[in-house]
Amino acid sequence: MGLFITFEGPEGSGKTTQMHLLAQYLQARGYDPLITREPGGTRIGDRVRAILLDPIHEEMGAPTEFLLFSAARAQHVQELIAPHLAQGGIVLCDRFADSSLAYQGYGYELDLEAVRSITEFATGGLVPDVSFYLDLPVETGLRRKVGGHGDDWNRMEQKGVDYHQRVRAGYLAMTSQDPDRWVVIDATASVSEIQVAIRRAIEGRGLLPSGRRVG
Ligand code: TYD
Repeated sequence: MGLFITFEGPEGSGKTTQMHLLAQYLQARGYDPLITREPGGTRIGDRVRAILLDPIHEEMGAPTEFLLFSAARAQHVQELIAPHLAQGGIVLCDRFADSSLAYQGYGYELDLEAVRSITEFATGGLVPDVSFYLDLPVETGLRRKVGGHGDDWNRMEQKGVDYHQRVRAGYLAMTSQDPDRWVVIDATASVSEIQVAIRRAIEGRGLLPSGRRVG
């Protein structure tokens, strides 16, 4: 039933660039992947995203933040991702549920079991077929981010280095718990080296749907 690929990584890891390069590669091979991102991707998700990133919401508590990400995700799965996969399509998603595990669960030290079970409820149990984790030392990522995309994500990026260290440790814990799904890539490598590693992983796992190339 289709192929669901997600891209995860810290601030400034270059995952969005890599996702678009993979999309170009797939398109050149005759596929028509759905390219989407979290939080967002739907009309409702975009409105939730606006609440989440607005620096004025400095009073937002960790559970509220987690539930808002989860609400956007539930809509995203129901409205876009699941229907595309059901048609046998390929979905490329810039962040997915693992971001909530890492940023809200590990980052805020919330109850991980609760975070996992609410996430499973929100996604209907949907888990990516393959997830790329672009790993980067926290300081490098934050430095890359300076002068990046302006004011957009102020509220999320204003958290301290310790927080981002917990996020990274969380990702590394998740990748070692489920090595079959995760492909860990050193994000300090060049853009083209990273892309080669991503394509090789997709091809090497024989993941691309054959026959009807609907997506
Ligand atoms: P994103 O738009 O991917 O920005 P970036 O280019 O920095 O990766 O993500 C925006 C922010 O939202 C980012 O700081 C990570 C955070 N985030 C969470 O904390 N939890 C989530 O579940 C998701 C999807 C994102």
